[in-house]
Amino acid sequence: MWAEQLLQWYEIHKRDLPWRDVARTPYQVLVSEIMLQQTQVPRVIEKYHEFLSLFAELEDLAKAPKADVIMAWKGLGYNRRAMLLHQFAQKVVEKYKGIIPQDPQLLLELPGIGSYTAGSVASFAFNLPVPAIDVNVRRIVMRIWRGVDQGLPMSRKEEEELSMYVRGIIPTNRSSDFHNALMDFGSMVCLRDKPLCES
Ligand code: ADE
Repeated sequence: MWAEQLLQWYEIHKRDLPWRDVARTPYQVLVSEIMLQQTQVPRVIEKYHEFLSLFAELEDLAKAPKADVIMAWKGLGYNRRAMLLHQFAQKVVEKYKGIIPQDPQLLLELPGIGSYTAGSVASFAFNLPVPAIDVNVRRIVMRIWRGVDQGLPMSRKEEEELSMYVRGIIPTNRSSDFHNALMDFGSMVCLRDKPLCES
C-alpha cells in the first residue's frame, strides 16, 4: 500500500518544521494551519514564532484587542484570516472553556474553519483519522490513485469520493505523520509543474 511506503520515505526525508514539534498544542497547530493557507512556508516560519511570542495561549489571543492581532499579522497578508482566528479564540473560550474541540463537526461551526482546516486540526493536533485535503494533497493523491492531474474544479461527488478514499488509507495511529508526509512529498518530489511522483 502506497501510504506505508510514503511513511517510510517521510522518516528519511521529513522537513523539520516548527509546528511539527512533538510538544505542539492544538492552538499552535491551528495558528500554523491558518497561516499556511495563503502564505509560503519560509514566511510562515518567521511569523509563527513572532505571533506565538505575542499570544502564547489561546486565551491571550482571545482577550487581545483586535488592532493588536491585525498588527501581529502584518506581513502575512489576507487580514481576514487574523480577524477570524481572533473570533475563533473568543468563541472557544466562550463555548468550550478555551479547549479546542477534537470533533471536526464542532470545529466546522467555528469562525474561519472550513473542511480542510477542521481536518488538519483533527489530524495534526489530535492524530484522528480525518482527511485534510488541500490543493497539494489533492494533487498528489489524484496522481497516485487515479493517475490524473486533477485541476480545479472537482464536483462535490468527486470531492466526497476522494475524501472517502483518503479516510480509508490513513495508516492506523499515524494520521498526523501521514498528512505531513503528503505535504512534504508534494513540496519536494511530487511537484505541481515537475512531477516526479513515481520516483
Ligand atoms: N501546509 C499546510 N499544512 C502544512 C504542514 N503541516 N506542513 C507543511 N506544509 C503545510
